[in-house]
Amino acid sequence: MTKIAVYPGSFDPITYGHLDIIKRGLQIFDGLTIAVLNNPSKKTLFSTADRVKMLKAVVASMPRVEVTSFDGLLVDFVIAQKAKVIIRGLRAVSDFEYELQMALMNRKLAKTVDTIFLMPAEPYTYLSSSLVKEIVARGGRAAKFVPPLVEQELRRKFSLTKK
Ligand code: PNS
Repeated sequence: MTKIAVYPGSFDPITYGHLDIIKRGLQIFDGLTIAVLNNPSKKTLFSTADRVKMLKAVVASMPRVEVTSFDGLLVDFVIAQKAKVIIRGLRAVSDFEYELQMALMNRKLAKTVDTIFLMPAEPYTYLSSSLVKEIVARGGRAAKFVPPLVEQELRRKFSLTKK
């Protein structure tokens, strides 16, 4: 039986921390579906289509990874994918409360779905999409934190590079 896990998130934008979790997930599961939340009421820097596009480009060389967006409840998406596992990255204790609440609520909504937490490599424990956006918006470089094409898109967003 093929074991697929869903790795959901905002990915606004994808960072090397997310990529680290994807690689770890692939060592455990046969396939990963990266699920980008499409939430028009949540303000994101990149559109859902752009976030999916960047993710697809970044994981293009990984044959067992799919990227898609989802609406509605995460557990409904997971069940529709015939998956039973949600992967979430856990960086620090500060992530834990929110993640525990979500994991337990998702389990309440669908008892067949479990969440597993993967810890990224240490250099990524302080990394977040929000911090990367702030750094680039203020003229800093993000090459250590995001893949080159993502940095390029960030710089374009903040009009730091030619269109
Ligand atoms: O990267 P993020 O923003 O921390 O990801 C949060 C995400 C997308 C996993 C979460 O907001 C989510 O699952 N939203 C979908 C709606 C849903 O199912 N809500 C109930 C969760 S308990």
